[in-house]
Amino acid sequence: MDEIRIGIFGLGHRGIHWLRILDRMDGYRITALGDIFASIHERALNELSDSRGVETHASYEDMLADPNVDAIALCVRCEEQGAMAARALESGKHVSSEVPAAHTMEDCWRIVAAQERTGLVYLLAEQLRYHGFITAWRGLVRGGRLGHVGYVEGEYMGRKDTRRYYRDMTTGEFVDVADLAAHPDAQPTWMHRMPPIHYLCHDLSAMLSVLDDRVARVTGMGARPQSYAHDAIHRSDVQVALLRTEKDTIMRMACGWTLGRSRETRSHRYQLIASHGTLETGAARGELPSMWLAGSQMHDAARVDWRTERADTPPEAAALADIPNTVGGRPSTGYSEPTIDYIVHKNFRDAILGEKPLEFDVYQAMDTAAPAILAADSISQGSKPIEVPDFHPSESRPAGRAPAGM
Ligand SMILES: NC(=O)c1ccc[n+]([C@@H]2O[C@H](COP(=O)([O-])OP(=O)(O)OC[C@H]3O[C@@H](n4cnc5c(N)ncnc54)[C@H](O)[C@@H]3O)[C@@H](O)[C@H]2O)c1
Repeated sequence: MDEIRIGIFGLGHRGIHWLRILDRMDGYRITALGDIFASIHERALNELSDSRGVETHASYEDMLADPNVDAIALCVRCEEQGAMAARALESGKHVSSEVPAAHTMEDCWRIVAAQERTGLVYLLAEQLRYHGFITAWRGLVRGGRLGHVGYVEGEYMGRKDTRRYYRDMTTGEFVDVADLAAHPDAQPTWMHRMPPIHYLCHDLSAMLSVLDDRVARVTGMGARPQSYAHDAIHRSDVQVALLRTEKDTIMRMACGWTLGRSRETRSHRYQLIASHGTLETGAARGELPSMWLAGSQMHDAARVDWRTERADTPPEAAALADIPNTVGGRPSTGYSEPTIDYIVHKNFRDAILGEKPLEFDVYQAMDTAAPAILAADSISQGSKPIEVPDFHPSESRPAGRAPAGM
């Protein structure tokens, strides 16, 4: 095989963003598009450079049964996201899934067992781990220059768009919380019901890649399940996880997007405090990260020109930089830097074509999803600490089988 026939399921903002990238990348041919709302198929077809012969599917079963699809790009936003990824593998399709991978522990195990049984490629398409400054930090920490990292903070907080919390289930149109009065039939979406801490995936993925570690224990805490900022959002504004890693790093990570916060504040922020130095992102967008190294004649931390974009962007990735950040003429809520997204799609392609094994495997993917799910479980059980399982096969769990009870 030298070309992957790929079907994109979930044609919202992220699905359209992926479509625009995959349509232009060597090694991919988009052969199918799908969404449970047939009304938005046309918009996606119109985005393709050549839509001839491209099938559209309103049912996921039909997408999975499509013989012209080798791999599924899964861009849905729903509680069943993990089960849908597992079903793709069980149907003989490779799968590249959007974050956060899964929303239940059963689905995490189902993905792992299906990947092991089939040997197909499962990729969690988390892209922050490839940011330029994260790669630089990984080199410093893994090279031992900072010593033992004792404490890590991460957060994904921002004044998010409130367009994704309600949806008209007849038309598929999302309804902003400010416009609910004009849409009495709009229903709360998964974005509305989901515990915010389920979205730890980005920050955990990035920080675990820096630390080369996994979370062993987690506890959580959250605000009341009713926003203080929006009457119509019946969900915590913020939830926090405290995590202890296998190598003994303590992490504090927070998620929430409905509190008031300036748009100039960076939404993903990190701080690492180690035995021999510190690393920190700035608080404001555009502010450079800083580093302080013990024993290096530095009186204080110095700003370093590390950015999210990489200093080694290859020409084929740079060529994607003009991909628009609008969908249907409005700012996209699913836009991210295409030159970084390129790395995710390249890794998936190279793994399927046998050119390079995945560097972010199914076990590491679940190491980002499971602590988030268990942090939410901890919150619902009065902040009870919970052990996080290691997903690798063991004597008690042979490869290809989920543990008893899962
Ligand atoms: N990596 C990133 O930077 C990033 C950014 C935004 C969103 N995301 C992730 O991407 C995914 C899609 O996000 P989005 O912003 O495009 O969401 P969205 O709500 O705009 O679109 C999701 C689409 O999936 C469709 N869908 C298909 N099958 C579905 C099902 N069974 N149940 C519910 N919906 C179904 C919906 O109809 C909708 O059109 C989510 O998993 C989200 O977490 C990732």
